[in-house]
Amino acid sequence: MQNFDYYNPTHIVFGQDRLAELDNLIPSDAKVLVLYGGGSVKRYGTLDKVKANLGARTVLEFGGIEANPKFETLMKAVDVVKAENVDFLLAVGGGSVMDGTKFVALAANVESDHSSILFHGFEPVPATTAVPLGCIATLPATGSEMNAFGVVTFNEQKYPFTSPLVYPKFSVLDPNFTFTLPKEQIANGVADAFVHVIEQYLTQPVNAKVQDRFSEGLLKTLIEEGPVTYQDNDNVEARKNFMWSATSALNGIIGVGVPQDWATHMIGHELTAMFDIAHGRTLAIILPSLLRARKSHKHAKLVQFAERVWDLTDGTDDEKIDAAIDKTESFFNSLDIVTKLSHYGIDETGIENVVTNMEKMGLTHLSETGDLTLDIVKDILMAAK
Ligand code: NZQ
Ligand code: ZN
Repeated sequence: MQNFDYYNPTHIVFGQDRLAELDNLIPSDAKVLVLYGGGSVKRYGTLDKVKANLGARTVLEFGGIEANPKFETLMKAVDVVKAENVDFLLAVGGGSVMDGTKFVALAANVESDHSSILFHGFEPVPATTAVPLGCIATLPATGSEMNAFGVVTFNEQKYPFTSPLVYPKFSVLDPNFTFTLPKEQIANGVADAFVHVIEQYLTQPVNAKVQDRFSEGLLKTLIEEGPVTYQDNDNVEARKNFMWSATSALNGIIGVGVPQDWATHMIGHELTAMFDIAHGRTLAIILPSLLRARKSHKHAKLVQFAERVWDLTDGTDDEKIDAAIDKTESFFNSLDIVTKLSHYGIDETGIENVVTNMEKMGLTHLSETGDLTLDIVKDILMAAK
């Protein structure tokens, strides 16, 4: 196992009907900006419930943060924060709203060149202050509610950023706010959480037994509870397990001291930016094809994945690996996620454009070992055609 630091200050408030606790979680004299997306939280009453629990605080609203939040939209929220001297941000929504709010938290304390926040990749943004923020998570998927990452679209490209300053002070995870999700968003969330675990687990073995077994537990839980919550919208217990799996998949705990891949995410982000495919779906297209292309590279962990996650114990190692990858793809398909690019109208020309764009973005050496080059990216995409 590699050396690591682990720090995660987010207070999780998990369970049904806990909104009244907002009063203790946000300073009583705070001027609060509530940020939300395209309107689901208004439509389904979540926003009113949140506001009713903010007591006598001054509360402002900023709606209209789109899925895959755009820099220009978020800068309008930054203007509100500055003009109104807002001192607490409350994100009510999915990953896009939470990520967008993190960007606003950093950008509101920057005088100029706000887009430069987006150009540090996975290195921390060199900021020293941010407006504190909290989250009411309405979509289990990204883990944004308990991590220090965000992804913002700028000039039609997706840029990840991170800073310890944007860990939410708290996140409320109440399954009641998720029952209005359309089915396909549940499927997207299951796929996203599954691939978050895989990108930290299915790399090179470093004898990190705790992280491996946490990861295997999360994958097994997603395989068990993902389809239940997808099929049965009223199953609160399945929903709770799915929610906590999604948060745990990317709150840092399984990623400490182990190599991390993230190639599926980097390729997937291009598919979202160029073809507007939902984040979770892009990952489900890329992952099976990537695992097939990297079979020998990831051999040891793929055997472990086959045996411990899919309970495949018969046959040779190669047979187990092939069966595990097929089962992974079928799992996504069982959630009505199509794992072929042609379904989304993407042909060879589209694939070449993806590769060209990745080259422009400097995404030329991906994976846990930095040896997944654009030639291999092209092979992966062609195999997913
Ligand atoms: O905008 P509204 O009207 O609220 O509708 C949203 C949106 O259309 C809807 N929705 C959310 N909660 C709902 C609901 N509809 C009904 N009932 C509810 N309770 O769902 C749609 C999708 O929402 P979005 O927030 O875009 O989805 P998700 O949570 O999957 O977030 C995706 C974003 O997160 C980024 C992705 O790149 C993408 O931009 N990611 C963030 C990460 C992080 N911060 O660590 C890691 C991830 O890998 C990912 O890259
Ligand atoms: Zn993701």
